Amino acid sequence: MSAFEADVKSSELKRVLGKWSLTAIGIGAIIGGGIFVLTGTGAYYHAGPALALSFVIAGIACVFAALCYSEFASILPVEGSAYAYAYGTVGEIFAWIIGWGLILEYAMGSMTVAVSWSGYFNKLLKMFGLHLPDYLTSDPASYTGEGFSMNLPAFLIVLFVISILIKGTKEAAKANNLIVIMKVSAVLFVIIAGVFFINAENWNPFIPEVAKVMEGDKAKEAYGIQGIVSGAAAIFFAYVGFDAVSTQAGEAINPKKDVPFAIITSLLVCTVLYILVSLVLTGMMHYTDFNPQGKFPDAIKAPVAYAFEIAGQGWAGYIITIAATVGLVSVLMVMIMGQSRIFLGMSKDGLIPKMFSDVHPVRKTPAKSLMLLGIVIATIAAFTPISKLADMTSFGTLFAFTMVCVAVWILRKKEPNLPRNFKVPALPIIATLGIVINVYLIWNLSHEAKALSTGWLLLGVIIYFLYSIRNSKLHKEGYGETLKAEQQPLQDIDIDIDNKD
Ligand code: ALA
Repeated sequence: MSAFEADVKSSELKRVLGKWSLTAIGIGAIIGGGIFVLTGTGAYYHAGPALALSFVIAGIACVFAALCYSEFASILPVEGSAYAYAYGTVGEIFAWIIGWGLILEYAMGSMTVAVSWSGYFNKLLKMFGLHLPDYLTSDPASYTGEGFSMNLPAFLIVLFVISILIKGTKEAAKANNLIVIMKVSAVLFVIIAGVFFINAENWNPFIPEVAKVMEGDKAKEAYGIQGIVSGAAAIFFAYVGFDAVSTQAGEAINPKKDVPFAIITSLLVCTVLYILVSLVLTGMMHYTDFNPQGKFPDAIKAPVAYAFEIAGQGWAGYIITIAATVGLVSVLMVMIMGQSRIFLGMSKDGLIPKMFSDVHPVRKTPAKSLMLLGIVIATIAAFTPISKLADMTSFGTLFAFTMVCVAVWILRKKEPNLPRNFKVPALPIIATLGIVINVYLIWNLSHEAKALSTGWLLLGVIIYFLYSIRNSKLHKEGYGETLKAEQQPLQDIDIDIDNKD
């Protein structure tokens, strides 16, 4: 029995997710604060009105990866996402590194999302005339007063989300579906209402000529074609999340068909919405008006809400703040759920302790793992300036995308005859483009994020050799067995669990 076969057969999770719930999980993870916040930075520091093209490029980078994820998901309906895919194809150590990198995307992403949720929540309270003291909304490093401080809303929202996730996947999916309907409506509303305030002059020139802009006290080059590409890296965070669908394959009713459908559909829906939002925004406000040293110094912090305020439509700010506050809850939910399922896969393979794969006998969720994750995520979100490191989330995601493009290609070469419900068309071209674009976007992330993320991956390698390799199921089975499993991981697998529920 191969490692994968064992994984699939031993899945104790409940298969409760249909194709629309899975699609909602994708959209639930994608639309968060990113689109409402990063658009100003993308327009002013990078692309100008051509920000819409930055969204197209980032969207295309995601589509290449999404196609590769989909082919894998159609073959291997197991939880664990890119980690699990790499495990069966390129071998354990590569899978480990990918799984370790995914912690940046999911666990670290959850921490930054919890902090940005706290920011929106405070804004919402202020709109209703309430105000939390600074010592309850700031981590100690960012707190300017004396004495104790913590980001209490960030701490509590994580615990709240964990309590829903422990209850059961069906319950979490129901809550997610509702939130998704609400936030897609809010985004559509922003687009439709915004159209009435567009001044087409603001789009002229659509691709501004290369020019220097001041970022703090440093001058940097912006606009032109290079600005469009660097803009794609800057707004990439807004797309993070669609791959979360692939962490849920263990709970999908018909994973081989529905997971590919949900990955691609959720990504396409969000790409179209994002392009429209960026067109509306840069049509409503001239891109130079997002200059933090210009006449609207705060516009870049909340660009979409600000554009409506300037148009005399302050009410839109309420809608955006409510949509982001509620919407970010589902981002958090899907990200933490995704992390627990990746740990589940890694733990089943013996690479991390067994408690991460204990499934609650009644709830059928990895309750212990969720509790531990909740405590760690809530504590770091409450007590560290984690949001400064948000780019590391993009690093982890882009790294996983790149590895999935590599792995799907390797699997096609190694196992050309394996039944595939979904096949990436023109794979060598799509995979190569996927790898090139994703590596290029990594290259364009901040130096700090690149250095810290590389350090994180190196730490992963050390832990692998100190702990994981000694406890790995593949290695415990003996060297000969291991080699066999690594070389022919997928042969003779008959895992037709579709419609099993
Ligand atoms: N894509 C998610 C967001 O924009 C993470 O908040």
